[in-house]
Amino acid sequence: MSDSSYEGAKKAFENSLQKLGLEYLDLYLLHQPMGDYYGAWRALEELYKGGRIRAIGICNFYPHVLADFCETVEVMPMVNQVELHPFFQQTDALSLMKEYEVQPEAWGPFAEGKHGIFTDPVLTEIGAKYGKSAAQVALRWNVQRGVVVIPKSTHRDRMEQNFDIWNFSLTEDEMKAIAPFDIGHSEIVNHFDPNFVRALHGRFVK
Ligand SMILES: NC(=O)c1ccc[n+]([C@@H]2O[C@H](COP(=O)([O-])OP(=O)(O)OC[C@H]3O[C@@H](n4cnc5c(N)ncnc54)[C@H](OP(=O)(O)O)[C@@H]3O)[C@@H](O)[C@H]2O)c1
Repeated sequence: MSDSSYEGAKKAFENSLQKLGLEYLDLYLLHQPMGDYYGAWRALEELYKGGRIRAIGICNFYPHVLADFCETVEVMPMVNQVELHPFFQQTDALSLMKEYEVQPEAWGPFAEGKHGIFTDPVLTEIGAKYGKSAAQVALRWNVQRGVVVIPKSTHRDRMEQNFDIWNFSLTEDEMKAIAPFDIGHSEIVNHFDPNFVRALHGRFVK
């Protein structure tokens, strides 16, 4: 949160670049629409125009915030990284991103393991048809909705599995079978909770 300002973002970028030992970054994202995120975006716009970042984007910009942002800024965000998985599908948010030509990217594409996603019977049955796991079906489902996925694993074999989703396609009926999974809200984080927002600012309220 302390980086969410013009000066803060510039400093954070230089810090990251130095730590990584690189001369430029491919993609740099604002974490959430909190603090002085318009100021932070101006810093990213300058770095982008100066060729120090190839693409700039945002995270966790829900539709009303995204619309305001896209109607205001000079350089449009290229990516919006939001929570997207079968249990939180955000179909309307995807439509708006399409309208503004912002690439959706899924964080938590496995719902961080919630809802028994890795052993879900519907995903498992669909996967069995293609010799794929429930995890691979969940990733493929998002990709077929035009979403970039960034699953995380600490296991090499799972990383390999998560890359191996390009040689099969879900049918329209299989995509439809996953639609009812949606519970319409996050069970991981509540960006709408004032106490969550205050905690990000370092103020903890019981
Ligand atoms: N922008 C944001 O606000 C935001 C918020 C949250 C997360 N993120 C980013 O999103 C990325 C991924 O999200 P995430 O880590 O939150 O959740 P996730 O990818 O939905 O789930 C990660 C969990 O899935 C397990 N897993 C991964 N592949 C598997 C497979 N093929 N089979 C079975 N289990 C598997 C991992 O366990 P093992 O490690 O044991 O394999 C880990 O427990 C991360 O890079 C994270 O930094 C961004």
